[in-house]
Amino acid sequence: MTLDNTVDYDALIPNNVGLASDPKIRKGLEKWHPGYIDWWMDMGPEGFQTSDVYLRTAVRVESKGADKWAVFDFVKMPEYRWGILLAPHAENRTVPFGEHLGEPAWQEVPGEYRAMLRRLIVIQGDTEPASVEQQRYLGTTAPSLYDMRNLFQVNVEEGRHLWAMVYLLQKYFGRDGREEAGELLRRRSGSEDAPRMLGAFNEETPDWLSFFMFTFFTDRDGKMQLESLAQSGFDPLSRTCRFMLTEEAFHMFVGETGVTRIVQRTCEAMREAGIDDPYDTEAIRALGVIDLPTIQKKANLHYSLTLDLFGSELSTNAANFFNAGLKGRYREHRLDDDHQLRGATYGLLEHRGEGFELVEHPALNALNCRLRDDFTDDCNLGVKRWNKAIADAGVEFELSLPHVAFHRQIGLHRDLFVSPAGEILSESEWQVRRDDWLPSTSDREYIESLMKPEFRPGRYASWIAEPRTRINHKPGDFEWVKLADA
Ligand SMILES: [Fe+2]
Ligand SMILES: [Fe+2]
Repeated sequence: MTLDNTVDYDALIPNNVGLASDPKIRKGLEKWHPGYIDWWMDMGPEGFQTSDVYLRTAVRVESKGADKWAVFDFVKMPEYRWGILLAPHAENRTVPFGEHLGEPAWQEVPGEYRAMLRRLIVIQGDTEPASVEQQRYLGTTAPSLYDMRNLFQVNVEEGRHLWAMVYLLQKYFGRDGREEAGELLRRRSGSEDAPRMLGAFNEETPDWLSFFMFTFFTDRDGKMQLESLAQSGFDPLSRTCRFMLTEEAFHMFVGETGVTRIVQRTCEAMREAGIDDPYDTEAIRALGVIDLPTIQKKANLHYSLTLDLFGSELSTNAANFFNAGLKGRYREHRLDDDHQLRGATYGLLEHRGEGFELVEHPALNALNCRLRDDFTDDCNLGVKRWNKAIADAGVEFELSLPHVAFHRQIGLHRDLFVSPAGEILSESEWQVRRDDWLPSTSDREYIESLMKPEFRPGRYASWIAEPRTRINHKPGDFEWVKLADA
């Protein structure tokens, strides 16, 4: 295996940032390393730390001809080579938006923006280990070795993303950065005393449908945040996020195809049993598959929790981040405007009288909402593909995203009681119908009853279809995870 010269794979911490000639930072990271491994052993995938898993490891920051950016091999997770990899340096890059538009991109932290920048990096960094913690028990109920492998791939890459953020903190923020890096290992998803910073990252991921919804919706929030940080005028952050996005695409693939395969299996079982009515829950569940209305409820839950991650629709923080050139818009470089938003407005859906109306606000203050709307558009592309799978199977049912004001805890709509269709209700009306819209206790119990491991190579649990394409073109009976006890 020949590696790109710029990635040092012999070092304890693989990197393309020249750690070998940066002893102070290297020592700082080497000091952080044992705490990270302790965290991984403690909070990482429970029960599979000694299994050999067929994993992808990034070895380059771009593919060159036959040399791909990643290699696949069997690895025990605690021995995974978590590296610090930044996308290639772009010559003469300039700040692409905000008050410093057109000035050379910063290679060091601009003093006046130090606190803001640190905050952005810490918030992003906090989400990475959180999802590993949320998903740590899922391996034991994996519906196949293929899905188990995909879960672990996502987990180790979230671990790498934590490394990526910790490198930025240690390299550019001195002592405060080292303290923040320690805090990232101290907080725990769902903990009373030291919870993770954002709500959705303290929720449970109790079953595999939740996992696929999480990777579809919540990892996609991650993608949106990384896309806007990839625009940053602070070049090391931009390069870090650009490379993280390369890995992140797989996480959304896992979510989208996971839900598609569940939907396919449900429709196929309905057809075989001659059931046309997607709401005939009892008959459908008797087939050992997940009825489509329950899948809709899970989507309602995860979509609404994820919308809250975008923060308040109107935000002076977001305006400040943009003006400062630290956090741009989704794919800022493809937008055709002044990149400063002078005098620009953006329409926000607001509750007025009986319903909702678009109200124009200064676009600078509405950046969170704009990113959230871009997120919704991106989600809808995936939902369309789910619906195609349902239509292809000849079942009459459509999945859809609920109204943006449904089940919200943050922002303009948080005090409203709104149905998925967007009707405004009283609290009591809403509560009466809650179980039609969000997973009920019995829905959860039913899904839980399906969560039985299927660890035989080439076999899949009753409720999920075999994938049509597999990772790295491996055969159908490939042993993706060699279980330690097997
Ligand atoms: Fe990530
Ligand atoms: Fe992710």
